[in-house]
Amino acid sequence: MTINTTPIDELIEVPAGLRGVIAAETRLSDVRGSEGFYHYRQYSAIELARGCTFEQVWFLMLEGRLPEAAELDEFTNTVARLRKLPDELLPVLAAATGAEFRPMIGLRTALSMLASVLDLPPLWDADPATCGRDALRLCAMTPTILAALHRLHRGLEPIEPQPNLSTAANWIYQLTGELPDQRAVRAIDRYLVATIDHGFNASTFTARVVASTGADIASALIAAIGAFTGPLHGGAPDRALESLDEIGTPDRIDDWVRAKIRNGDRIMGFGHAVYRTDDPRSLLLRETALEFGGARVDFATTVERRVVELLAELKPGRSIYANVEFYAGVVMELCGIPRPMFTPTFAVSRVIGWTANILEQADTGKIIRPAARYIGPAAPQPVPPVVSRR
Ligand SMILES: CC(C)(COP(=O)(O)OP(=O)(O)OC[C@H]1O[C@@H](n2cnc3c(N)ncnc32)[C@H](O)[C@@H]1OP(=O)(O)O)[C@@H](O)C(=O)NCCC(=O)NCCS
Repeated sequence: MTINTTPIDELIEVPAGLRGVIAAETRLSDVRGSEGFYHYRQYSAIELARGCTFEQVWFLMLEGRLPEAAELDEFTNTVARLRKLPDELLPVLAAATGAEFRPMIGLRTALSMLASVLDLPPLWDADPATCGRDALRLCAMTPTILAALHRLHRGLEPIEPQPNLSTAANWIYQLTGELPDQRAVRAIDRYLVATIDHGFNASTFTARVVASTGADIASALIAAIGAFTGPLHGGAPDRALESLDEIGTPDRIDDWVRAKIRNGDRIMGFGHAVYRTDDPRSLLLRETALEFGGARVDFATTVERRVVELLAELKPGRSIYANVEFYAGVVMELCGIPRPMFTPTFAVSRVIGWTANILEQADTGKIIRPAARYIGPAAPQPVPPVVSRR
């Protein structure tokens, strides 16, 4: 057991929820909320999303540099070959699709089984090469698990991964059974790159806490997914799309928004804990949606513009803009991703950020062990005599 030996009056008080506290050092990513900017390593994440493939940025997150052409080929082939699931996992996947379809809970369960099947060692005991290989395997298998859960829930056979497809193309293929067109692949690839990592959010912090104990990678990932499924953190791209459906036509926007705010509800797809200006991911995805064009996209841009105006009026001084979720749902719908698989699509990319953070944390060899302020009755009090029934 680790005991905090710092005298109580020397402990440092920090704001509730650790807001504004630096709790670790990282070389992976950072978010600058007031500038509307975030980066992976030393590069703008948005510039990477525009110009690089998911596999290139995955390599960057792990290695700290973009790959040479030959390295990229080798890396792409390696991760594509790792997508296939061990046979022992199939009965677990079938059992994990309960009456209500909750793919992230299914993923958490399947990763737990996978850790046993693959016999993953604790990070503390494994050498860096083994940790790196295990991280790749779990990331590569995550989309296969999620796609299989989706198909099993609909009474369909899971589809084998195709090693000659990119992560983005294979993801759409394994969900729908159809080879996607290039525009859809490029749009999903952009989305995946843009959501790989995003600073020290709750699930990333959770992953690092578990990794800091020296536990195995799957345990740290499962904990991160657990944090991510909480409504205050996990994505809401399907709910943002439901809002568009509910509003229906431009003339209903004002009444709909005013009624929501009157009832104390939040408008899904708007606002962010860190950004105080446009969320750069939302700008990128709006641009991506506009490349598709069409009535749905026109309506979404009209709703976005008006909701921002109304929130400025109804929540003055709050600076609320569209967040990543608003256009994510629109883009995924245009690419043929089924609505229940919007949040899982986010997990296909974020698993890269989680594992990169897990490996970085494990490398420090330091356990994360803060303190809590005790606010119960003063101690010690005399233990009352135990009354015996006999
Ligand atoms: C993301 C979110 C949880 C950030 O919350 P936060 O850090 O507390 O936000 P802020 O400190 O900037 O703003 C708090 C104030 O703005 C209001 N606000 C923030 N986002 C809002 C939204 N989407 N709709 C209505 N009001 C909102 C809050 O009601 C609060 O007002 P109050 O003080 O009068 O109660 C919040 O914006 C939200 O719930 N958004 C909708 C859900 C969503 O899109 N989630 C995906 C996030 S990527």
